Amino acid sequence: MVITYESQSVQKNTEKAAHRIAKGLQAAGASVAMFPVNRVDYGALAKADVVIVGTWCGGLFLFGQHPGGANKIASELPDLWDKATFSFVSYAHNPGAAAEKLGDVLEAKGAVNLGVGTIHRDKINEDSEQFVRDVLAEFASA
Ligand SMILES: Cc1cc2nc3c(=O)[nH]c(=O)nc-3n(C[C@H](O)[C@H](O)[C@H](O)COP(=O)(O)O)c2cc1C
Repeated sequence: MVITYESQSVQKNTEKAAHRIAKGLQAAGASVAMFPVNRVDYGALAKADVVIVGTWCGGLFLFGQHPGGANKIASELPDLWDKATFSFVSYAHNPGAAAEKLGDVLEAKGAVNLGVGTIHRDKINEDSEQFVRDVLAEFASA
């Protein structure tokens, strides 16, 4: 699996979530490589069975939520034809549909986005662990 992320703030919430997600998936037996989105190893990406992409939620808190790193993700990642992906966002109060919109960005590159996650910045460990359970459940049911 490859996990790639785009963090914006000095707190690096999305990066912390990515680390926690990697830890959870490794504990379940997956081999995981992790890269910031501007330093993705394209060879590892091409070989990965699953790609997990995370960014921060931007917006006006009550509306207009969107995946903050979407433009960078769209420009840095290559085509993802038929690649199974999961998208997640870290957020402060209300993520709206930002994680689904990130999934749309991946699907525009040819990916099949199998699930989304939202990770509250004050509950990074807890929400990341839930996301890991959701990812694993998706595979168990496949
Ligand atoms: C310009 C800006 C807009 C934001 N808009 C929202 C928002 O609409 N909803 C929300 O829940 N969080 C919002 N946030 C909070 C971030 O999504 C949150 O702090 C996130 O965890 C930051 O991740 P990072 O540390 O990886 O950059 C916003 C942050 C910024 C800087």
